[in-house]
Amino acid sequence: MHRRNKIPWPTKAVMEQVYDKHLWGGTDMDFYSGEGSHNTDITQPYLEAVIKFLKSHNNNLVVLDLGCGDFNIGKQLTKYTKKYIGIDIVESLIARNKTVFKAENLEFHCLNIAEDVLPKADCVLIRQVLQHLSNAEILQIIEKIKDYKYIILTEHLPQGHFEANKDKIASQGIRLKQQSGVDLLKAPFNLHVKDVKVLNVVDPKDKKGIIVTQLYEIIPQRFTTEAQRFTEN
Ligand SMILES: C[S@@+](CC[C@H](N)C(=O)[O-])C[C@H]1O[C@@H](n2cnc3c(N)ncnc32)[C@H](O)[C@@H]1O
Repeated sequence: MHRRNKIPWPTKAVMEQVYDKHLWGGTDMDFYSGEGSHNTDITQPYLEAVIKFLKSHNNNLVVLDLGCGDFNIGKQLTKYTKKYIGIDIVESLIARNKTVFKAENLEFHCLNIAEDVLPKADCVLIRQVLQHLSNAEILQIIEKIKDYKYIILTEHLPQGHFEANKDKIASQGIRLKQQSGVDLLKAPFNLHVKDVKVLNVVDPKDKKGIIVTQLYEIIPQRFTTEAQRFTEN
């Protein structure tokens, strides 16, 4: 039988549908970004680790939250930052976030993080976003986020050994179904970093993979190629 290729929808339409049809649950809520954003067994250890990092910078970092979702996470981090910028592709969600969450150091923007110009910041938080996107979109996003000093990345990964970065189309689902997960340090992404720290690993009770948060310190742009490193020395 002939298998038809899936023609991907634009990511904006995909994510709008996820929220409209409550594909991540939370039918009693206006917007719901999923269990990973609300189950305190998952969110508390993450928040503690990130708050510790932000405090270690004297609450003085400008933070960009890429794919901020329903902001159940971000609302608990804002006060530990100099400025907090929440970004999401879903316009109605950003409009709702602007009315519900208010603070002097908080702003929201509706942007496609794979395509649009992103605001300046010291640190990028990108939590359970890349796992939903295609490798081509992730490559576009890396081109942008490698200009920031710190990236705090959270991804849902299979337990144990797995083949990283199997491709998929943008959807509500993640690579776990393909026994895969996103690893930015591996091909085809090969992000160059100065330092990596695992901030937090959550092993949810359902045993469907683990949720890993890593802190990447990025190599300043002038050191990104071996040739340049040689010249600098
Ligand atoms: C699973 S939710 C995670 C929300 C939040 N980071 C959290 O951990 O609670 C993924 C979010 O990424 C957003 N998103 C996906 N692709 C995006 C893109 N290209 N640009 C901006 N936001 C995007 C979705 O709209 C959704 O709100």
